Amino acid sequence: MLLVFLILLVGSVISQCIATKDQTTCSHPAKGNPKFPSNFTFGVATAAYQIEGAWNIDGKGPSIWDDFTHNYPHMIDDRTTGDIAADSYHRFNQDLKALKELKVTHYRFSISWSRIYPTGDISSRNQKGIDYYNGVIDKLLANGIQPMVTMFHFDLPFELQKIGGLANPLIINYFVTYATELFENYGDRVKSWVTLNEPLLYCKSGYGEANYPPQIEGAGIIDYLCMDHSLKAHAAVYRVYKSRFYNRQHGKVGIALDSQFSLSNDSAVVNRAMQYNLGFFAHPLFSKSGGYPKILVEEIAENSLKEGRIESRLPDLSGKWKHIIKGAADFVGINYYTSRYVVRAKTPNGKNPSLERDYDLDEISDPKWTRGLSRWLYCVPEGMESILKFIRDEYDNVEVIITENGYSDKGDLNDLDRIHYLKSHLQAVLNAINDGCNVRGYIYWSLIDNFEWQRGYSVKFGLYSVNMSSPAKERTPKKSAEYYRRIIETHSIPDDI
Ligand code: NOJ
Repeated sequence: MLLVFLILLVGSVISQCIATKDQTTCSHPAKGNPKFPSNFTFGVATAAYQIEGAWNIDGKGPSIWDDFTHNYPHMIDDRTTGDIAADSYHRFNQDLKALKELKVTHYRFSISWSRIYPTGDISSRNQKGIDYYNGVIDKLLANGIQPMVTMFHFDLPFELQKIGGLANPLIINYFVTYATELFENYGDRVKSWVTLNEPLLYCKSGYGEANYPPQIEGAGIIDYLCMDHSLKAHAAVYRVYKSRFYNRQHGKVGIALDSQFSLSNDSAVVNRAMQYNLGFFAHPLFSKSGGYPKILVEEIAENSLKEGRIESRLPDLSGKWKHIIKGAADFVGINYYTSRYVVRAKTPNGKNPSLERDYDLDEISDPKWTRGLSRWLYCVPEGMESILKFIRDEYDNVEVIITENGYSDKGDLNDLDRIHYLKSHLQAVLNAINDGCNVRGYIYWSLIDNFEWQRGYSVKFGLYSVNMSSPAKERTPKKSAEYYRRIIETHSIPDDI
């Protein structure tokens, strides 16, 4: 009964904010200046495992995703792998052509750690891997496109998993050594670095729920350990860059955080939800006080005690680490796709223990929200505007780059839903900028259709379609590619689609 009431209440709140019948719900009203600032940057993103293929070519070592797709094929919907993917390793020129057509200023791609260090360790340094990305970077720059390089996008070298991967604190040193190699080889030309992509997601899925590699069922314990080590690894790399490279390379180093906005009329509930999601990484890095959000530290300690443990499952950071981590990023990268309404949980969620149990909130979607092909992806542009304002207010208006935002479907070239998604979310970004948010760039996920992790190739996010059945893997622009190009060219959001 109470649930029905809540759903009705939420529904009525939402309907007030949602467009009228003849409009798509995937739209967002314009407020203020219709033009993006002249120095605002536009890009597209990809990630190594999702597009490169060449999984064992030119000395590359296996990653945990190679192992996962090869040895646990049932974990991927269509039982595919990234062995060949869009074959970007051999076909970067085709990607470059698409980037030029789009007229993007930035291309965000990731480096495969096990191409550079096949075992994850410096002793296995692979010159051919290093050369490959030199070629990519040079070609981008020769065409006036700035590289934005992600150092780690889920594909940990398999050998490092044998020692526990991100659950072992040694990962901090391994990551710093690898990042140093990248700064030394590419830092003369790469001015924008993203250390880690979506640490909350890969820790939760890989070390908590066991549905991503390395499939560890350590919910509420090992996933927290993974997050702790990820945060420290990120900050350690930032400090190395500042002390050893910044003076001659003058680049920026940030992190890409998975995010969603939590909608509620109760600001305490919003705050709770935001701290448990974005705040996990953003609070230690960007808040005035540093450390994990107080609410997490206190509640998780209390829950741990109740469970009979001798120590909290999430001990707060030491004074030394708080200091190293606080301020250790030049920008926050936001991967924003969707949002949810939140209410306090009526009954305990998830396993005991788990992040869900600690979080103690129910998430609700509105049936009116347009849904992408990905089960979790609803079009909620107001969440984009709200999260940017949350960051402005909570984290002293730190520089923000939208490092990902995108919509999934079956791959139709006439992708009107993607255009509506793009249009409404860019409108939300523009509104936020008009309201004083320090957003400097937007990156659409993704340039091309690619391997969507557990969904294999069944779900497509690309502005370009890839002919997967042809050896040449031809790229074909979708209607959304043309629309995005017009946005970039005019620095505004065309009304006509
Ligand atoms: C975020 C991840 O970074 C990316 O790899 C993934 O494909 C997209 N979300 C879409 O799910």
